[in-house]
Amino acid sequence: MSAIVRKARHGDEEGIHNSHMTSIQEVCSKDYTPEQIAAWGGRSFNLDQKRNLIDNHHVWVVESDGKVEGYGLLFVSESQFEIGGLYFTPKVLGLGLGKKIIDEMKVVAKSLGAKEIFLSSTKTSKKFYEKQGFHQYDEDDVSMIGGVPVEGHPMKISV
Ligand SMILES: CC(C)(COP(=O)(O)OP(=O)(O)OC[C@H]1O[C@@H](n2cnc3c(N)ncnc32)[C@H](O)[C@@H]1OP(=O)(O)O)[C@@H](O)C(=O)NCCC(=O)NCCS
Repeated sequence: MSAIVRKARHGDEEGIHNSHMTSIQEVCSKDYTPEQIAAWGGRSFNLDQKRNLIDNHHVWVVESDGKVEGYGLLFVSESQFEIGGLYFTPKVLGLGLGKKIIDEMKVVAKSLGAKEIFLSSTKTSKKFYEKQGFHQYDEDDVSMIGGVPVEGHPMKISV
């Protein structure tokens, strides 16, 4: 399996969306109910929203055989740094590329003056984030996605 990590560019929008939905449907599905997966992993594609992320935040993609198989998003707003997503399809799991994107996020955040990076982790990936040095700092949170509550773990790391 050969796969690379690179910064996202225009043209990646649909691949980012599709890999995100596939990851929820095929990886997170073991930790959430079918109702949660249907709402969370069945959202429709919005080109402008994805393009705004690429243009105004920091987005990485995993590319394999010319196809986007995963992405990572670092939101930067008013000196707050938050990982807004890190989702891979089964095809590129376990290759060290999640760690690689987190390491790149840490470098970028630090260069922009970050002291901490925040995120809300899925149940599925809490152990992955712990391995990268994050810890849970508050009680579990709940996001409403497509009218359905989806639980997460608020986590952070000092950089
Ligand atoms: C999060 C995610 C992108 C991590 O991707 P990955 O590329 O497979 O992880 P890596 O290969 O970089 O793993 C890095 C280390 O974490 C460990 N690790 C990865 N996933 C793990 C898990 N679920 N539980 C425990 N350890 C895990 C690996 O064994 C590896 O350990 P090592 O450094 O000792 O070798 C992937 O698991 C994923 O897509 N999850 C589903 C989507 C999701 O829930 N995303 C989180 C959104 S907040």
